[in-house]
Amino acid sequence: MSCSQISRREFMRASAATSVTLLTPTMLQASPRPVPPSDRVRFASIGTGIRGSEIMRAAMACPGTELVAACDLYDGRLEWAKENSGKPNLEVTKEYRKILDRKDIDAVLVAVPDHWHAHLVEEACAAGKDAYCEKPMSHTVEQGFAMAEAMNGHQRIVQVGSQRRSSIVYAKAKEFLDSGALGQVTSIEEHIDRNDASGAWVYPIPPDASPKTIDWDTFLGSAPKRPFDPKRFFRWRCYQDYGEGLPGDLYVHMLTGVHFIMSVTAPPLRAHSTGGLFRWTEDRDVPDLIWTLYEYPTFRLSLRCSLNNESDEVLSVYGTKGTLTLKNDAALTFTPQDTSPRPEGYSIYGWPTRLRNEYLEDWKKQHPAPEPGRFLIVGETKTFSAPPDYDETVDHMNNFMESVRTRRPSVEDAVFGNHTAIACHMANFSYFYKTTAVWDPDTKKIRG
Ligand SMILES: NC(=O)c1ccc[n+]([C@@H]2O[C@H](COP(=O)([O-])OP(=O)(O)OC[C@H]3O[C@@H](n4cnc5c(N)ncnc54)[C@H](O)[C@@H]3O)[C@@H](O)[C@H]2O)c1
Repeated sequence: MSCSQISRREFMRASAATSVTLLTPTMLQASPRPVPPSDRVRFASIGTGIRGSEIMRAAMACPGTELVAACDLYDGRLEWAKENSGKPNLEVTKEYRKILDRKDIDAVLVAVPDHWHAHLVEEACAAGKDAYCEKPMSHTVEQGFAMAEAMNGHQRIVQVGSQRRSSIVYAKAKEFLDSGALGQVTSIEEHIDRNDASGAWVYPIPPDASPKTIDWDTFLGSAPKRPFDPKRFFRWRCYQDYGEGLPGDLYVHMLTGVHFIMSVTAPPLRAHSTGGLFRWTEDRDVPDLIWTLYEYPTFRLSLRCSLNNESDEVLSVYGTKGTLTLKNDAALTFTPQDTSPRPEGYSIYGWPTRLRNEYLEDWKKQHPAPEPGRFLIVGETKTFSAPPDYDETVDHMNNFMESVRTRRPSVEDAVFGNHTAIACHMANFSYFYKTTAVWDPDTKKIRG
């Protein structure tokens, strides 16, 4: 093969085009459609802390919804619920039963610490309410199956709140994967890294926090009894009694995106984690770095979360025909790979010149080079961006409200949510027991 042919091929590769497309927001955010009063969804918020406040606003922004009550265990959050909703007379309570007993409430938003999810969702279903439950769905593997049973048994809509499932960016990514544009995908990697106290859940404690303003016994719920400790109440993510550390907080988002775009319908086969508690050592029993390799039947997935370095969140999906990257949840880029035929250019340099030339001549005959000025089309690098003010949570919440109205199954029901939650539990199982976690579908348990 002559030098000029090689350089032309290189040129063809370098000349591949690029395009950038702004994704269109959904109908909802572009032009809310009117909902007749008979279809109005009356909902209540249970848990009006950091996330509860966001999803309360998202639900209020959906067409045809009405917030009628709020419940929380801390006075400050009940005061904030009135402010946040713009309803100074909103009915508020510290007793969730008062909400579930009301016949005029169709749905509840559950945004409480993870150890309370199962109990509240099961009770809500039994009380005839539909439930939007924040991620991760469960605190233990057993709870996840009980929640799915409650959803099915009481024929309720249960939607898990990991909003990537409704994102227009992930929908585009799924389109690429389903079209076969990436070829065979065998490896995926992603990480979320943070480097500050807030990212590490060391939140300030409000100055009025006390057993008078907080219902501490109810907060503990099924967790071990302890004396009042505001750190545990406000920084619950740091303790295994109430949360699942980084997997429950952040892996679950990454797993939701991957399960959705890769059409995964079961927990991973195996998981192997490493990590450690290196820096935020003052008061927590979960690691500040965790790294997990997951095995799925047709691909492998590497996830990492660190609280000791800040970097962009990048999801990379590697296929035989191209790479898909998704940066900070907002920009999706497909880069095709040049898979056009090319002669062997490495091992033949261990051959005598005579045989090498023979091989190259033969290859050339079988693969005539394009005429000068006519180039092979290698494919375009395509980028898709979400509009700057795009909020996937509003889309996700609107999907929930539409399911409540129409009884159409939720886009992220308790079965989907259970699979991502189990993957989080497998990561922790592997980390804490220092063994590979194996999912056993027959016993529905993780074993080492
Ligand atoms: N989807 C997301 O992007 C996202 C983001 C942040 C948090 N979350 C999830 O949202 C949930 C809440 O997290 P947060 O950051 O808002 O926590 P938070 O501590 O700010 O708020 C939790 C609130 O729940 C209340 N609560 C606890 N037990 C209760 C009970 N039995 N009845 C009524 N209220 C109760 C507490 O008083 C507290 O105010 C968690 O499951 C978390 O994983 C999801």
